[in-house]
Amino acid sequence: MSASTIEKKTLREGAFGNATGLSCRECGHQIELGPNYACPECFGPLEIAYDFPAVTREQIEAGPANIWRYKALLPVPDDIEQSPNTEPGFTRLLKAHNLGRELGIDNLWVKDDSTNPTNSFKDRVVACALSAAREFDAKVFACPSTGNLANAVAAAGARAGIKTVVFIPSNLEQPKQVNSAIFTENLIAVDGNYDDVNKLASEIAGEEDGWAFVNVNVRPYYAEGSKTLGYEIAEQLGWRLPDQIVIPVASGSQLTKVDKAFQELIKLGLVEDKPYRVFGAQAEGCSPVSVAYKAGVDAIRPVKPDTIAKSLAIGNPADGIYVLDVCKRTGGAVEDITDDQIRDAIVLLARTEGIFTETAGGTTVGVLKKLVETGQLDTSLETVVINTGHGLKTLDAVSGRVSARATIAPSYDAFVAANII
Ligand SMILES: Cc1ncc(COP(=O)(O)O)c(C=O)c1O
Ligand SMILES: [Zn+2]
Repeated sequence: MSASTIEKKTLREGAFGNATGLSCRECGHQIELGPNYACPECFGPLEIAYDFPAVTREQIEAGPANIWRYKALLPVPDDIEQSPNTEPGFTRLLKAHNLGRELGIDNLWVKDDSTNPTNSFKDRVVACALSAAREFDAKVFACPSTGNLANAVAAAGARAGIKTVVFIPSNLEQPKQVNSAIFTENLIAVDGNYDDVNKLASEIAGEEDGWAFVNVNVRPYYAEGSKTLGYEIAEQLGWRLPDQIVIPVASGSQLTKVDKAFQELIKLGLVEDKPYRVFGAQAEGCSPVSVAYKAGVDAIRPVKPDTIAKSLAIGNPADGIYVLDVCKRTGGAVEDITDDQIRDAIVLLARTEGIFTETAGGTTVGVLKKLVETGQLDTSLETVVINTGHGLKTLDAVSGRVSARATIAPSYDAFVAANII
C-alpha cells in the first residue's frame, strides 16, 4: 500500500529542494523521499519533512509573482521555474470593506484564489505534484477529482506535455466537465460519488505502472502546494498572521496546510509568533468534519454527500481528523450551512465585493456569516476568508436566483414604462 508503481531508483540531486524525507503524521517514523504516501509502520499518512536554511523576507520578495517565490519552503528543485507549469499563485488579497460592513466585521479580507490559471486554488497543489511526478518519471499525470482538481491537472499536463487522465463523478457540473475536457482527451466520468472515484484511483495506482495520481500516490508533495496560500496571506498582510481565517473543507488538506505554513513562518522568524484561530467551512449536505467537531468526538463518520457544493463533496475526508486538531488547537471551529445559505452567500459576496465565487466559496462566506451570528467569531479581530474557486464553474447554483430584471423593447418609452430607477 505504501509503495507505488512509479518508484524511481535514483533521484536527481536537489530534486526536492530542502525536503529531507517523508515523515509519518501518526507515529513520526521517517523514510526517504519517494513516491510513497502511507507509513510502512502504521499506514498513517506521510508528509514532507524539511531542513530549511535561513530564508529572508527579501529573498522571497525578490522571487517571481507566483508560488515559486516560496520554492525554498516547497519540495521542488531550485530550477523549478525552468520546467513548464501553469505558474499559479500570488493571487490578490482584497480588503472587503463592504462585506465587512454587511457582516459587522471591522477588518475583513478576501484571499481571491479564483484568479489562478484554471480558476481555483488547485493549480497550486498541482504545480507541486507535477514537479514530483517529473522527478519520479511518471508516464501519466492523473487524479480523482470533485472537479477543480481535474481542471488543474488537465491544464498543467497539457502545458508540461505529459499524458493526463482525470476521473470525476459523472454527475458533476457541466462547466467543470468542459473545463477539463478542453485540456485533455481523457476525462473519465465514473458512475459513483467522489469517494467511489477515489477508491478506483487508488486501485489503478496500485496496479498500473507509471501513474502519478496527484492526490493519491504523490499526495505528500501535492499537499505542500496549499501552504503557499498561507505564505501569501502573511506576506500580503505585511508579513503578519491574521487573527482569524475561514477555510473550506473537503478532504481537509488545504486547511491543515495553511496552518502548517503559519507555523513554518513563525519558526523561520518571518512573522511574529501570535495566536490565530482557524475555522473550517462545510456544506450541511456533506459535513462529516463539522458534525464530529460539534459532537466533540475525534473520529469522523463518513457520509453520503448531498449538496450543491460538489467541489466539497467528500464524504470520507482523508485529513478530517487533522482539521479537527487544527481548529481545536487554535481556538477556531468547524461549521456548516444549508444549500440555500450557500446560494445566498454567493450573491452576497458578488453584490458586496464584485467577486463571483463558486459553491465552495459560497460555503466559506456563508459559514463566516454564521460564525458571526452565533458569536463564534470575534468581529473586532482581523479576519481572512478564502475564496477558492470561480462562480462561472457553478452557474446553475445561482441561475434561479439572479436573472434579467426586465426584458424591454429598444425604446426610451419602454425603458420608462419598466420603472427601473
Ligand atoms: C474550490 C474548492 N475549494 C476547496 C476545496 C477543498 O480542498 P481540500 O480537499 O484540500 O479540503 C476544493 C476541493 O476540491 C475545491 O475544489
Ligand atoms: Zn506511522
